[in-house]
Amino acid sequence: MAVSGWGSALPPTVVSNDDLTTLFETSDDWIFERSGIRERRAATGPFVDPPPPKLPPESGLGTTGTLATEAARVALERAGVSGAEVSALILCTTTPDQLIPANSASVAAALGMAGGAMDLNAACAGFTYGLVTAAGLISAGADRVVVVGAETLTRATNWQDRTNAFLFGDGAGALVVEAVPGDGSLLGWDLGVDGSLVPLLYAQHGSGMVMRGREVFRRAVLATVESAKASLERAKLTVDDIALFVPHQANIRIMQAVAERLGLPPERVASVIERTGNTSSASIPLALVDAVEGGRVSEGDNILLAGFGAGMTWASAVWRWQYIRR
Ligand code: ACO
Repeated sequence: MAVSGWGSALPPTVVSNDDLTTLFETSDDWIFERSGIRERRAATGPFVDPPPPKLPPESGLGTTGTLATEAARVALERAGVSGAEVSALILCTTTPDQLIPANSASVAAALGMAGGAMDLNAACAGFTYGLVTAAGLISAGADRVVVVGAETLTRATNWQDRTNAFLFGDGAGALVVEAVPGDGSLLGWDLGVDGSLVPLLYAQHGSGMVMRGREVFRRAVLATVESAKASLERAKLTVDDIALFVPHQANIRIMQAVAERLGLPPERVASVIERTGNTSSASIPLALVDAVEGGRVSEGDNILLAGFGAGMTWASAVWRWQYIRR
């Protein structure tokens, strides 16, 4: 498979660290030093006025569905194809707009898609899970798959909990991938989960996120490094062959610790966390699209994607950038 389009979408409301000081005792310095975050975008929550409608997800960028639709619309436009020409839509999200039906159904309708559509929840490892799933569909005969990571994490944020409310933000990123002759561009991948670690990070229906931050930090670094090494080995490449590392944007200190342990210098690491915070499934595509639009990715570059999330899940992939121009 190869990529033919990419896109992203962010809600317009910017919430700075200083804005958060109106909710709980904290400071811009503390948050930036601990996480690398200066601001995030919010589709919902105390800084969005007026509150967006819950459903239907047609207006503005106030829902997971509308953010996903906008990112995918931009990606399809770049690819020069219509929704009707898409075999399948994979919407990676932990924060769907409703329990039933899958969020991908309304996104597919908004984009004029009639191929298969599904939601995929692997928390912050979601987008990489989605990309590997897309490669599987393509090897099974699909022509073209749209993979979107979209979140409204601000809906699952406990705004009274200063120990983690500053981390999360909203947004979406999308790729259009297509069948090509030959081996394609997914060179190696690794997916995993350790379900015994559910208590480290979870949100029950109707209540905010609960996180044991230090333990998540420690496990995240270990799992991401091991997974990235496994993908590199399967791709028969080393870190020296990697032009760009796109880690899950969880916390700059986690991203730096992983990059250091893998032997990747900061100039080869994609980062948008300062402006977006942690957007879970959306974080890898947001950082990837930012790097592509910033001219940091060239044809034939090897890219390493790696992330971890609630579950705990982890996923990584080595991906050779091949762009189908129309
Ligand atoms: N502002 C000021 N002080 C604070 C704040 C705040 N917002 N929050 C906590 N503190 C205080 C604590 O009360 C504590 O004070 P004490 O020592 O007097 O008790 C002190 O700061 C240190 O708190 P810690 O929780 O130990 O801080 P730590 O250095 O571990 O940093 C953080 C916290 C940033 C959450 C870190 O643990 C972390 O990044 N963990 C990983 C989180 C993560 O990436 N989660 C997402 C992954 S999964 C997903 O993406 C959904």
